[in-house]
Amino acid sequence: MTSQSRKKTKFQAPRGMSDILPKDQIYWDKVERVVNKLAREYGFKRLDPPILEPTDLFTESTGAFTDIVEKEMYSLRTKGGDKLTLRPEFTPSIIRAYLESDLSSLPHPVKLYSIGPIFRHENPQKGRYRQSYQANFETIGEQDPVLDAQLIQLFFSLSRELGLKNLITQINNIGCPCCRPAYRKMLVSFYRSRKKGLCSNCQRRLQQNPLRLLDCKEKECVQLAEQAPQIIDYLCDECNSHFKNVLEYLDELEIPYILNPCLVRGLDYYTKTVFEIWPEDGEGRQIALAGGGRYDGLVKSLGGKDTSAVGFAMGLNRIINLMKQRNVKIASRTRPLVFLVQLGDLGKKKSLRLFEDLRRAGLETTSSVSKNTMGAQLAMADKLKARFALILGQKEVLDETIIVKDMNSGTQEVIPLNKVVKEVKKRLKKSK
Ligand code: HAM
Repeated sequence: MTSQSRKKTKFQAPRGMSDILPKDQIYWDKVERVVNKLAREYGFKRLDPPILEPTDLFTESTGAFTDIVEKEMYSLRTKGGDKLTLRPEFTPSIIRAYLESDLSSLPHPVKLYSIGPIFRHENPQKGRYRQSYQANFETIGEQDPVLDAQLIQLFFSLSRELGLKNLITQINNIGCPCCRPAYRKMLVSFYRSRKKGLCSNCQRRLQQNPLRLLDCKEKECVQLAEQAPQIIDYLCDECNSHFKNVLEYLDELEIPYILNPCLVRGLDYYTKTVFEIWPEDGEGRQIALAGGGRYDGLVKSLGGKDTSAVGFAMGLNRIINLMKQRNVKIASRTRPLVFLVQLGDLGKKKSLRLFEDLRRAGLETTSSVSKNTMGAQLAMADKLKARFALILGQKEVLDETIIVKDMNSGTQEVIPLNKVVKEVKKRLKKSK
């Protein structure tokens, strides 16, 4: 994406946002196909929320003191005075929709997935964009740790089908409202006496969001985080056993993971399990391919019943960047079966109708109605590796015939126009 060469034109795409060009669509098609297929196989139903949501939805769920809400939201006020925000993530929208459309009355767990853009006003750099795309999965309504593991399994199935190996799960458990407050207190007291050694951002975050100090990338903060108390020593029995179970399921599935006590995630709603998936050879958090975790308190805090949930989102731009970087080959689309060549006014007119007849008969057909010479059109047929060229000129229209040119052998034959569909189908069958 960032490597895309751009010309200085009068207008340019906004910083951190770019076009997905025709040459790259092959990757996006593939990823979307694999996501839809696996989502279906794992029992997820698709939900597409609107791109704009009430701003308060994110303030109250993503969290008022998170980077996303403090610095990165694209917010606007409509002419009618509503405060709306371009979604910076899917999870709050999905829970809003689950509550608003009464999906909570469905048998649980309710499994929902979405694909689409998210918007974060971040500092653009490699793998970090202001408009990026996610495939997002949520399993709502059950506490069982097997669901946490199954989502990680789903990610690994997706990546395998996309030709990506050598990925690793970074996993942690950040406790629940029962055990986290005691840990938070210990953490604040640890950092308070070392406040001068923190970066200015962390000095500010110490009161509001002290857990985030653990995953700050500034050198001085990384060193302090290594000595900081670890949440694992403060987990209540329930969180402990949940964590142990998730890890046992991952062992059973032979999914590679690393316990990362500094992984806290930048969103407020998480409880218990949090995870990210990184390339094994990568530079760390900057290029997390996916991130997620359990959020047992969010549904209730948005006005629903006490309902557990767990989910993750995969960053599609980063997945595609890695596919390109690792030279993952994607089978290109099948070549067109038929290229329709038209010559002269009559040929052009008649070809419009014939194109439709061929297409409706299930023959993958391409034509170029704006090119007028036989040479240019046959060159295109050749380039697209069409199996047959059908040539319709002035004479053929008057005679009610058409020329069938076999693009492999170069031989050609005149046949009645009204038999063309049947004849091409017959020849295709024979040449298989
Ligand atoms: P997140 O970690 O903020 O989690 O985003 C998930 C993934 O989206 C990241 O690992 C990354 O691959 C991609 N991503 C995020 N921001 C950018 C960006 N600026 N540029 C490129 N890629 C990006 C969430 O969004 C949670 N809602 C996930 C979740 C679902 N948790 C529970 N359910």
